[in-house]
Amino acid sequence: MTAQVVLITGASSGIGLATAELLHAEGFIVYGTSRNANNASKYKFHLIELDVNREDSVTQAIKEVIANEGRIDVLINNAGFAIAPAGAEESSIQQAQAIFDTNFFGVVRMTRAVIPFMREQHSGLIISISSILGLVPMPFGALYSASKHALEGYSESLDHELRSQGIRVSLIEPAYTNTSLGINLLKADAQISAYDHIREKLHQQMLKAMSKSDDPSVVAKTILTVINSQHILPRYTAGKTAKNLKNLRKFAPVKIFDKLIQHSLKVE
Ligand SMILES: NC(=O)c1ccc[n+]([C@@H]2O[C@H](COP(=O)([O-])OP(=O)(O)OC[C@H]3O[C@@H](n4cnc5c(N)ncnc54)[C@H](OP(=O)(O)O)[C@@H]3O)[C@@H](O)[C@H]2O)c1
Repeated sequence: MTAQVVLITGASSGIGLATAELLHAEGFIVYGTSRNANNASKYKFHLIELDVNREDSVTQAIKEVIANEGRIDVLINNAGFAIAPAGAEESSIQQAQAIFDTNFFGVVRMTRAVIPFMREQHSGLIISISSILGLVPMPFGALYSASKHALEGYSESLDHELRSQGIRVSLIEPAYTNTSLGINLLKADAQISAYDHIREKLHQQMLKAMSKSDDPSVVAKTILTVINSQHILPRYTAGKTAKNLKNLRKFAPVKIFDKLIQHSLKVE
């Protein structure tokens, strides 16, 4: 059997890097991407340049993989970023649009560009890295949570559409994972002094939780299991915390869940 060709967006660090390394070690032909491919030779897998915010860049990256390999079997939409904890009203409309441009429209651009090739192959798998915050609310992280909720609706709808074309679409939902996401947080660009105290408190709380959280290899292993699975499901949690939160969302009464969110964030 010939090795499957996998394209992973945002493979220069964190979850994307761990996934690219694991899939490469498992014998897949892996193309990872970064907005800066100057040091591509330091990676064991192929590293190519891609900015998911730019349509021309998306087209070029996919063209390159198709020119080299003739097919793309698996697309992993991983590229994304978060805004540091802040009130929703502390981000300008431009900043709100920027996070959707990468976390949601980046996925839409990649997916639209890859589907024609998968349709022609009559096979393919599209996996997007959502978050447990695509299912549960995140006070002081509303825009990030909203971008992942949008991704959940898009992906599950698309999965039903594309089955007729031999293509499956799935989501991975990690909780906090120990990556550079916390270092790369964008600062809210319209800060309001009323939130100063809570903003700083939650930022420290988030960085602490991230440093103690799962290694990105936990997510990478979940992705490998999904790729090797005979029966793909629309969504998978990655790690224990995400699974527990998903069960709470599903089974806890609304009032209890509401109290838990307030209490865990200490924003009462
Ligand atoms: N860490 C967590 O706690 C956590 C939890 C749940 C879900 N997630 C999701 O997991 C995914 C990966 O995040 P991570 O935690 O691994 O963070 P990370 O270490 O900061 O990695 C983010 C990756 O995304 C790439 N990227 C960012 N903007 C991009 C753009 N416009 N075009 C192309 N690539 C771009 C970066 O590549 P370059 O800078 O090299 O271009 C980098 O490789 C994200 O979608 C995130 O929302 C993370």
